[in-house]
Parts: sequence; structure tokens; C-alpha cells
Amino acid sequence: MREIERIDKAAAYIREALGEADIAVVLGSGLGDYVEALQDARMIPYSEIPGFPASTVAGHAGELWAGTLHGKRVLMMRGRFHSYEGHPLSDVVLPIRAMARMGVKDLILTNAAGAVNVDFAPGDLMLITDFINFSGKNPLTGPNIDELGPRFPDMSRAYDKRLRAIAAEAAAECGITLREGVYAWFNGPTYETPAEIRMARVLGADAVGMSTVPETIAAVHAGMRVLGVSCLTNMAAGILDAPLSHQEVMETGERVRGTFRTLLDGVIEKL
Ligand code: HPA
Repeated sequence: MREIERIDKAAAYIREALGEADIAVVLGSGLGDYVEALQDARMIPYSEIPGFPASTVAGHAGELWAGTLHGKRVLMMRGRFHSYEGHPLSDVVLPIRAMARMGVKDLILTNAAGAVNVDFAPGDLMLITDFINFSGKNPLTGPNIDELGPRFPDMSRAYDKRLRAIAAEAAAECGITLREGVYAWFNGPTYETPAEIRMARVLGADAVGMSTVPETIAAVHAGMRVLGVSCLTNMAAGILDAPLSHQEVMETGERVRGTFRTLLDGVIEKL
């Protein structure tokens, strides 16, 4: 089957099961229960959607939710596919492409990330202004899918300017401090080494994580407007004299969850 047929099959299934949507949100670690905010919510497990792989990471459910929020039709991905799980990038970005083909225009990507910028602190939220791809991989590798977008897509404005302004405005109105910075993608699943973090800082990164960049690339390719927000759950490796742990990431995510939800809510209201 051609890749576009696989994407369109998934898109048709989702549209049939959940209806149309204007906005999609990918919920990062710890944010999953934001689906509770949806009115008239409906859910389908990823395992039901043709072509979707099975998610493997503990703490990442595999559910696609749909409902109404501030009068808008919103899809929410509770759980995403990561390259470090062994998924090919074509699978990692399949949900994004399917939603693009359904006509979703605005995509909000969220994640947990390590703070590389020493002026930032665990618990801070960061608006992603740009990315650095340290993975050596790209989801557009292979024949271009002309139905989605061009062979050499522009990435000079990957994160939409208007959406960023809306997020900054929503944060200000809610009294939320919103940092801004560059997100660097490392494949994982190891956390980075202190040397890699020093390198990333010198090269312009403010945060590091193991997701979001492939989805951003696929979304921009397919003509979506992208907003990216990171929850900085820990200082990146080597900054503090302490080891990194998944537990710390989850605990900080939990602590900031309410603020993160308030920000997302403010953004969606203004879209
Ligand atoms: N590195 C990579 N991914 C992460 C981190 C980190 O420090 N924290 C949360 N996700």
C-alpha cells in the first residue's frame, strides 16, 4: 500500500468515529488527563485505528479523544509514538498526517523536556521558538508524498508566529510565566550525557527531549500551523550534581499539570 493510502485510511476511520476537528493537541507525559476538559467526549483506542502501531511506554496511554472545548472541535492524542520505542518515523508521524488529511489546521504539541538553559528551572513552561534535530533522522526521508507537501519544505518558521503570540498572551492573562526557547531532539531512550548537554547549549538549545520534532516536521510539511510547549521537568544532565530519573520527570509533570492545562485552555479559547 502507498503511504498516502495508509494515511488516508486512518484519516477516514477517525473522521467516521470521531467527526471533524479544527484543532489537535498531542498530550505529553503527565498531561493525559486533560482529555477530561472535553465536552461530549468520545474516544477510540489507537489499536482500533487502521495502520496505527501499538504504543509501548508505561505512562503513555494510546487513545485518541475528540470533543468540544470553547466551542471548537478538538482532537486530543493521549499518548504518542516515539522513535526510541523502535517505531519507524513514518509511524511516529502517521497520526499527525492523518489529522492533517482530515482538515485539522492547528496542532498543539506538548512534551516533557530537560532544561539546558541554566536560567530556567524545573516546573517552568517553555514556548518552543525553533528546534534543533540532533537525531540524524528525518520523517520526510524517502520518496516525497506529494499529496502532503513539497520535497524541500521550509522550516524557517516551523512554530507559527500567530499561535506563539496567542500563547504568550494567554500565559500573561493567566499569570503564568512562559519561557521561550529552542528545543533540541535527541533520539533517546538514554538521557543525554553532560557533554552532549554542554554541546547542545553551545549550539543554541534551551531544552532537550525525545519527541515533538518529527511531529513538527511532518505537520509543517503537511501545511499545519504548529504550536509547541515544553514542560521543563528537570535540569538536563550534568547541570546539577544528581542523576536524572524518569520518576523526577513524572513528578514535576504532575506538579505543573494544572498550570499547563490552564495555559492550553487559554490558548484554545483564543484560537
Ligand atoms: N532529556 C531528554 N528527554 C527528557 C528530559 C531530558 O532531560 N526530561 C524529560 N524528557
